[in-house]
Amino acid sequence: KILILDFGSQYTQLIARCIRELNTYCEIQPCNKPIEWEDSIKGIILSGSPFSVNDPQAPVVDIAAMAARVPVLGVCYGAQLMAKVFGGEVAKSSTREYGRAFLEHSNKEEPLFYDVNLKSQVWMSHADTIVRLPEVFTPIAHTDNIPVAAFKSLTLAKYPVHAVQFHPEVTHSIEGKQIIRNFLVHICGMQQDWTPAAFVQETVARIKAQVGDSKVVMALSGGVDSTVAAELIHKAIGQNLYCVFVDNGLLRKDEFETVLDSYKHMGLNVKGVNAKDLFYGELKGVSDPETKRKIIGRLFIEVFQQESKELKDIKFLGQGTIYPDVIESVSVNGPSATIKSHHNVGGLPEKMNMGLVEPLRFLFKDEVRRVGKEIGISDIFLARHPFPGPGLAIRILGEITPEKVHMLQEADAIYIELLREMGLYNQVWQAGTILLPVQSVGVMGDERTYEFTVALRAVTSTDGMTADWAHLPYEFLAKVSNDIINKVKGINRVVYDISSKPPATIEWE
Ligand code: XMP
Repeated sequence: KILILDFGSQYTQLIARCIRELNTYCEIQPCNKPIEWEDSIKGIILSGSPFSVNDPQAPVVDIAAMAARVPVLGVCYGAQLMAKVFGGEVAKSSTREYGRAFLEHSNKEEPLFYDVNLKSQVWMSHADTIVRLPEVFTPIAHTDNIPVAAFKSLTLAKYPVHAVQFHPEVTHSIEGKQIIRNFLVHICGMQQDWTPAAFVQETVARIKAQVGDSKVVMALSGGVDSTVAAELIHKAIGQNLYCVFVDNGLLRKDEFETVLDSYKHMGLNVKGVNAKDLFYGELKGVSDPETKRKIIGRLFIEVFQQESKELKDIKFLGQGTIYPDVIESVSVNGPSATIKSHHNVGGLPEKMNMGLVEPLRFLFKDEVRRVGKEIGISDIFLARHPFPGPGLAIRILGEITPEKVHMLQEADAIYIELLREMGLYNQVWQAGTILLPVQSVGVMGDERTYEFTVALRAVTSTDGMTADWAHLPYEFLAKVSNDIINKVKGINRVVYDISSKPPATIEWE
């Protein structure tokens, strides 16, 4: 594997994704965490950073010690750090070095630039520049603005050290991926053999070794991650995996029955638990969003624990945790490690005192989908929009009642079905309906009505962190509005949410 040392750049994850797309395994770790050396580490990449190498707080690592064991590549800050610690000079840049630049190199034999055009567009994003390169390094490329855009040393330590001032990991560096590939293949000697099939084989073997003859219990949500994780564990230990799928009464229309059915078809040992009344009972009279979330989280844990207790002799808890949930990153306010916790199942492992089985712990979302495809999981799961853990509870503004849930389920089903019918479902990242706590006057036939309003939400996004409202066709909106108002009793008005995130959020609560 390749180890990426994170100095806090916003692009660090892009380096990891680029390497993974090249069928090579890599992991990110904070630069200030000691490296646990093992034979599987074949190279190290030093990321960019919001720091200047001249800041008193600037993180520093022992590059010579690393290069004594494996090849090292410095990117942006990583490059400047190399220049600085070996006796060169880095200073604030007088010309702007942001955005497009053209990298020029003259040596077709340079391994880092194999098959890279002699003049190639790259993306720069740095405030400092290397004024003087230490003698141990040789420049290997320049741009119009900077004489040292890439450099290397074969004599600094046992293994080669390379550095690039630009960001090869961003798509605007047109041949950036080729440069990273060159580092992996020609400098680190990697094979590009980390494929979904290899991952499945390796993971199934690892789960078998970890779990042995013990039993694993796992909660399923109907989402991609828990489904793919369960199927991998199932492949490893078969019927010793016990799955629990809870109906909290806040799922989409018919979702509980259809998803439970699909799980059974997949051969999973799954128990469906109807806990609707428990959830509705505890949510009665509650309208504050965070209180709703807390109640739902707590009840879910209670139900799940109760079910697990009945199973006896369970030693492990399976979870669909994915890499973005566990990446430790260097924060800008000093290189301290922070870890995000998994918001859906927070608190569960601590309370249950069991070992954890997390087959997807090192995968990004799109890799989870590729693995899912590899093991034959249906598109019903793989292409599904994200759906929040608290479900429709946070799409019913104000108090939740079974009647409101029913109304919203009907409207939501019409909306999602039409998105599918008109070929729009896969063009939006997430869609859903929101029941507003307002009633307004309408007229149906000769009757005055005084009923609820539903808001339609559809967004485009890549990760849910930022999102734009989807520009759905008017004909589509007209049809949904008409169908919902005609078919769902209690709703006489439909509006479309045209807010982006930020400043709005995707959900309304
Ligand atoms: P927001 O509303 O924060 O949503 O823009 C971003 C993404 O997160 C989902 N979301 C949640 N998922 N539990 C979850 O599992 C929650 O409490 C929760 N709140 C929001 C939301 O559906 C969107 O995909």
